[in-house]
Amino acid sequence: MGRVALVTGGTRGIGEAISKALKAGGYEVAATYAGNDEKAKAFTDATGIKTYKWNVSDYESSRSGIAQVEADMGPIEVVVANAGITRDAPFHKMTPQQWQEVIDTNLTGVFNTIHPVWPGMRERGFGRIVVISSINGQKGQFGQVNYAATKAGDLGIVRSLAQEGAAKGITANAICPGYIATEMVMAVPEAVREKIIAMIPAGRLGEPDEIARCVSFLASDDSSFINGSVISANGAQFFA
Ligand code: CAA
Repeated sequence: MGRVALVTGGTRGIGEAISKALKAGGYEVAATYAGNDEKAKAFTDATGIKTYKWNVSDYESSRSGIAQVEADMGPIEVVVANAGITRDAPFHKMTPQQWQEVIDTNLTGVFNTIHPVWPGMRERGFGRIVVISSINGQKGQFGQVNYAATKAGDLGIVRSLAQEGAAKGITANAICPGYIATEMVMAVPEAVREKIIAMIPAGRLGEPDEIARCVSFLASDDSSFINGSVISANGAQFFA
């Protein structure tokens, strides 16, 4: 049996590619989703990857969901905190609700995902944490004060966890994807998206698999001395 890997938001978009890549790499994968039962069922039918439904923004749901995964599959040794949402609006139009929903899911959700597995990783002396941040956490983005704040926060989380976990065999790293061809990016108005693509020297959006391969590396034993790092995968759009 391979190591158990948990991927939040693991049935769609970048998360779907990550779940599949980890399964292909021999991991036992548990993919979480928040709401789309139909898509989750289709995902399990197509991949054989087990899915779990909980809201990452709720600590108790995360804790009990993770306990269920561990009862079913064994201790979680790899955590990929990928679940995230956007509620884009220029700051003068952004509502407190748009702010709070993004903070709750993208930032508190990362805490809620890692915190319940951390003690077990410390006890066993091994763990791999990968947080999916964003280019927009590095550079900021018009219309994304809320999202950029959470994605910058992710970098603070991994850099701090790296220092706490290093002596216990745990690594915590972040990946900052640029604009990747997923539903989230396709939801950006076409005219805006065209302007964004024009700013990517690679001349195209990234593919979910290009992020998944970074995760596979960071989850593996090969990355053992990489801790608190940030991998930018953005087609040369931005250099942190
Ligand atoms: N830079 C500078 N000015 C901009 C701008 C930009 N990127 N976008 C809009 N503006 C300007 C407009 O030209 C307009 O100016 P005027 O009032 O002088 O005409 C003003 O801002 C207001 O524009 P809108 O009326 O279009 O504002 P809106 O409320 O309808 O929409 C928006 C604004 C929702 C932020 C829209 O511009 C948008 O969706 N932008 C894309 C944001 C983005 O990149 N999101 C990333 C999503 S993908 C993702 O998040 C994944 C990842 O990690 C990369």
